[in-house]
Amino acid sequence: MGLAKLYPDTLLSVVILVIALVASVRANAADESLVNLGRALFEDRSLSGDRRVSCASCHLKDHAFSDSRPLSMGNRHHRGTRNAPSLVGLANYRTLFWDGRAEGLADQARFPLFSPAEMGLSSEAQLLDRVRQNQNYMRAFEHLLGNLNGHLRVSDIAHALAVYEQSLVPPETAYDQYVAGDDDALSQEAKAVPALFNGKVGCSVCHMLGARNASFTDNLFHESAVGLRGAGAEFPKIATRLAHLPLQQRIDLIPTDRRVAELGRFVVTLDPKDIGAFRTPSLRSARVTAPYMHDGSVATLQQAVDLELYYRGLKQGYPVNFSLAERREIRVFIESASASSSQPQRHPHSALTAILPSVRNNFIVSTHHE
Ligand code: HEC
Ligand code: HEC
Repeated sequence: MGLAKLYPDTLLSVVILVIALVASVRANAADESLVNLGRALFEDRSLSGDRRVSCASCHLKDHAFSDSRPLSMGNRHHRGTRNAPSLVGLANYRTLFWDGRAEGLADQARFPLFSPAEMGLSSEAQLLDRVRQNQNYMRAFEHLLGNLNGHLRVSDIAHALAVYEQSLVPPETAYDQYVAGDDDALSQEAKAVPALFNGKVGCSVCHMLGARNASFTDNLFHESAVGLRGAGAEFPKIATRLAHLPLQQRIDLIPTDRRVAELGRFVVTLDPKDIGAFRTPSLRSARVTAPYMHDGSVATLQQAVDLELYYRGLKQGYPVNFSLAERREIRVFIESASASSSQPQRHPHSALTAILPSVRNNFIVSTHHE
């Protein structure tokens, strides 16, 4: 009597398990090559007009992929209008950029690639040419998408970049361990702070602390402690002029015109209450992302904390006094929720697949022999 007859169910289970294993090994290998391809594109300076600027020029690995310059320097030494934020833990955000003008990662990559102040490529054709010139890229894309016959698309490049960025997740911090039940993970000093952070001025109203996976952002747009510093006196005039331009033209001005950039969320919505409002930054990498605020005007984390304490208290309508020790404790607390090393943790493959279904599906759907 054959084995299959004796144990038909077991045999079927084993066959299914083997098929599932092979499929998952294949999917992981595809994820891995996609992440590697995305990283290579991210670090490639030839994808800029003057061949000197890559995404990595402004998003520095050692600073949790933020920029240590207050305002970024792009193609042909063009000075930008805002501070480049960290790219670690982007999953905390529902919109991208300080003003939320991009909805998702695949959409976002076009902004820096074609902005004259950032990578300064003149057209999609130029981007595709530069990528096609590199045999390694073409081999990697064909490996993932099948034979392209030269028909690579900008969206394929954007997807590879997006997958790489989504693989940059923050490592677990002392604060996460504390929240998960390890009472010794935080110093006595830092432990006192959640009360302080929630309390007097309610930092956590905007920099939210969930019971699990605190994102330190409410994903909303608020007035800024640094105000409309770079807007100059004529900002009401600029706001009026903007109101007559279509969305795309307004958005194109943001990386090149400092006074427009300072108007914040207003440039996107034209709602007067959004003048000078910026997305609450997650403080998850704040230990290593100096300088601070949308304009990079605040040099140290302690100064940023002190300024927020003062300004947010003022907004509540009454002065709030914090001792020197309390101000320091809040800074130490933010650091405890921030990665202790500046390196993000690469996501384990299986988890990567889990957080990327939409990107992966798009990528697969966009193959050229549907
Ligand atoms: C010249 C410097 C510069 C280059 C080059 C650059 N960036 Fe940025 N990046 C910035 C700045 C500045 C911001 C914030 C702009 C804003 O909010 O208006 C930003 C924002 C972002 C954001 C949004 C982050 C958030 O918190 O919402 C992502 C994602 C991003 N960049 C990815 C990229 C990718 C991918 C590339 C390469 C294709 C790239 N950047 C190239 C400076 C740069
Ligand atoms: C009403 C919402 C709100 C409250 C309350 C609030 N913040 Fe903020 N916080 C913001 C916004 C918005 C920014 C970005 C402002 C900008 O860039 O111009 C910011 C920026 C910061 C930054 C700089 C982060 C970076 O990456 O640049 C720190 C640090 C900070 N806040 C700490 C605090 C502390 C500490 C408190 C409590 C005293 C607090 N915030 C209360 C909304 C808030």
